[in-house]
Amino acid sequence: MKIEFIVPDKTHLQALFDIECRAHQYPWSHHLLSSNFGNRYFNGAILYQQQIIGFYIADLLLDESTLLNICIDPAWQGHGFGQQLLEHYLQQTAARGCMQWWLEVRASNITAQNLYQKMGYHEVGLRKNYYQNGNVSEDAFVMQRFQD
Ligand SMILES: CC(C)(COP(=O)(O)OP(=O)(O)OC[C@H]1O[C@@H](n2cnc3c(N)ncnc32)[C@H](O)[C@@H]1OP(=O)(O)O)[C@@H](O)C(=O)NCCC(=O)NCCS
Repeated sequence: MKIEFIVPDKTHLQALFDIECRAHQYPWSHHLLSSNFGNRYFNGAILYQQQIIGFYIADLLLDESTLLNICIDPAWQGHGFGQQLLEHYLQQTAARGCMQWWLEVRASNITAQNLYQKMGYHEVGLRKNYYQNGNVSEDAFVMQRFQD
């Protein structure tokens, strides 16, 4: 399957937001997604058949990067695209000197946890009730990965 990676900009915002809304139970708002572009962010998107099918939002500060969001359009999940996108993120940030990677993941999100573990992340902490949605709260696992 021929895929490409691009650095998304504001012209891709609507395509990313559409995927965001389809992929997440609690999607970021358009405003929040829109605010995650610019110098302090390190973002990427995956194209298949000339269409964006997923993206990530991260930051990169010196030798540390935090993955803030990653998603694949539900129509394309389970085909290895998420793993390829995460590998791309890890390679691109490593090439810029990253040695340590961080993320938070919902305690219930076993799919994402499996992917992160497969890519070398380890659980290092728990943030109680980190995610708040109305009356519903959920814990977050903090995961960390070191350069091999
Ligand atoms: C998490 C996500 C990015 C994974 O992308 P994907 O393209 O579906 O995943 P892949 O097909 O590349 O699978 C890679 C690995 O993820 C895990 N995985 C994928 N689907 C899974 C499932 N249904 N159940 C359990 N683990 C699963 C497995 O470890 C898999 O490796 P394997 O095929 O060797 O078993 C995608 O499911 C998604 O966008 N989910 C909604 C948004 C989200 O939760 N993002 C993460 C938190 S911000």
